[in-house]
Amino acid sequence: MTGRKTAGLSIKGDTSLLEPIYQFLQCDTPNQWVEKARQPENLPVLLRDHLLCELKAAQSAMFLIRKYAVDPASADALLAWFQPYEDFAYKKIGSIHSLKGKSQITKQITAREKSPYSQSLIDKMVLLIKEELHHFYQVLEIMESRGISYDSISASRYARSLFQHITNHEPYTLVDKLIIGAYIEARSCERFAKLAPHLDEELGKFYISLLRSEARHYQDYLTLAQSISKNDITERVKYFGQIEAELIQSPDSDFKFHSGIPVN
Ligand SMILES: [Fe+2]
Ligand SMILES: [Fe+2]
Repeated sequence: MTGRKTAGLSIKGDTSLLEPIYQFLQCDTPNQWVEKARQPENLPVLLRDHLLCELKAAQSAMFLIRKYAVDPASADALLAWFQPYEDFAYKKIGSIHSLKGKSQITKQITAREKSPYSQSLIDKMVLLIKEELHHFYQVLEIMESRGISYDSISASRYARSLFQHITNHEPYTLVDKLIIGAYIEARSCERFAKLAPHLDEELGKFYISLLRSEARHYQDYLTLAQSISKNDITERVKYFGQIEAELIQSPDSDFKFHSGIPVN
């Protein structure tokens, strides 16, 4: 066992899954955030934000392979795949029923000619997208069953602030984006584990069920970053780790899934 409090819900076998994440992140989620997040009146904002985070996780993976890796027909297929989700999230077109089963894609997504990035970037990202879109659907199901309406919600400072620090020359822009992807996934995983014991059973179980795929996503992003970089990425990882920890440990008036220490 680690010193972290994950008791109350069994995550047997998952401590080995969490250990690399605890080592990767430079700080734990502060208790003040957990205290705020466990209050029932904050559940709607937490779930709405979580819902959109799942879509954004899928979108950023999709944008990455559209920009760096896929052929033109695949780029179109990716946009078409996302259309019903984006229509729902941003235009309130459709419903949970029209999104059912849409997390799968039937078209083959292939690398463009002379792409320096391998099919493995595409394969990992397409799998990740499928999982994030499925998570989106699962969060929406939970919201529906609890009568929590979907309202669009502004994004927190977290991802935006991380992306402000990316370098502007390739391939290091891509490497930085992948490192940031690893941090977002790792923090999400850490927060799911930390929050789960404080939630009702259904939500606690759901959050624990998300751990496994988010832990793999973190690992995939990190592995891809190192495979694409010509240099050792250790220092760059530390650099983003410091920025990430600062965002988690500094006061933040906008309570969200990835926010800092609540100030009210
Ligand atoms: Fe997810
Ligand atoms: Fe993920």
